[in-house]
Amino acid sequence: MSSSVVSDVREAREKYVSSGVATPPLVVDAAEGSRVRGDDGRWYLDWAGGIGCQNLGHGPSAVVAAIHEQVDRYLHQCFMVGMYEPYVEVCRRLAAAFPGPGDAYKSVLLNSGAEAVENAVKIARAATGRPAVIAFERAFHGRTLLTMSLTSKVVYRRTFGPFAPEVYRSPVSIDGLRGLLRSDVDPESVACVVVEPVQGEGGFHPLPPSFPSELKALCVAHGMLYVDDEVQAGIGRTGPMWAIEHYGVDPDLLVSGKSLGGGLPLAAVTGRASLMDAVHPGGLGGTFGGNPVACAAACVVLDTVAAPAFRERSEALGALLRSRLDTIAMDFDVITDVRGLGPMLAVELVDAATAAAVVGAARARGLILLTCGLDGNVIRLLPPLTLSDEDAALGLELLQAALREAAN
Ligand SMILES: Cc1ncc(COP(=O)(O)O)c(C=O)c1O
Repeated sequence: MSSSVVSDVREAREKYVSSGVATPPLVVDAAEGSRVRGDDGRWYLDWAGGIGCQNLGHGPSAVVAAIHEQVDRYLHQCFMVGMYEPYVEVCRRLAAAFPGPGDAYKSVLLNSGAEAVENAVKIARAATGRPAVIAFERAFHGRTLLTMSLTSKVVYRRTFGPFAPEVYRSPVSIDGLRGLLRSDVDPESVACVVVEPVQGEGGFHPLPPSFPSELKALCVAHGMLYVDDEVQAGIGRTGPMWAIEHYGVDPDLLVSGKSLGGGLPLAAVTGRASLMDAVHPGGLGGTFGGNPVACAAACVVLDTVAAPAFRERSEALGALLRSRLDTIAMDFDVITDVRGLGPMLAVELVDAATAAAVVGAARARGLILLTCGLDGNVIRLLPPLTLSDEDAALGLELLQAALREAAN
């Protein structure tokens, strides 16, 4: 893209793009590995990754090569018009990677995390014949009508009601959920619970250690399905392929997205064949879901993340970041918590204004960060999991400098 076009991006954005889409001042004109280049020619260390979509970094060579190869073979087909190999290859890999015994798992491929969560609910309703869905406090599942209804943050809901019916909200506690099942919704009418293993947008809260297994036991007792939303926490973000692996629980349905497509839009619902086949032919699908180019990229992503070396590196990165963040936290009163799971880490600050000031000061120094949390006071770290020790150290130095500036 020519530099004259790039220099007009901010102005054109004001004129042509809805202000409902919130944007930072950054304009990107190139990206490589752990960095993006702004239109000022400056390279930034990217610890946002397009909101967790670049677990392998920007433009990993094997992914890009697979994309080029697929672009030269064919582009869109629509799986419902003509079947093709990349789609079934992604589903084969998702079956092999499913956190449960054996490989009798099937998938449907979609375009976005929200679309995949919607489809997981459709499948759960079809498989159980029940209408109700339970989501949790601090949940984020997307911006479509149903997923916004499952989401628990006002900024994503304000002015957009009425919301989808038969959605119930529980605290992230078994006692709280038991209470909900006594007071608000008959468990025998619940199709599924939808839950993130690490609540992402809600502030990087890993589920309490015993919660997933207790939740699964309650699901089994009442015939409710456990839908594991791994859109942000999956594809190696916490070390293993899926964050639920930390908890040793087999979900009924697993939703993936974001980094699955290596930078291209792709999401999936995967589950036992008996559940996935409960839907009548024609009930699932979509024009673009499982686009061949995105699938070609995803095959390489899944092979890369499944390799033991990738997990070892992610876990080493997580340990390094965690110990440094814990040390940094001792120097700053504005830091109220450091938390996360493996390399999926966040720093909680006293308030949203401080978090925004740190993000701004970090950007000015060349580090891209994102906030999250119900109160917008949490800084989440979503660096590529391929980050070198040198870049990890540099990012932490920049974060520290930004904290020093914002805390004063
Ligand atoms: C846990 C979770 N589920 C669902 C979604 C929605 O994904 P998408 O933005 O691709 O629709 C997100 C997006 O951030 C997410 O973090």
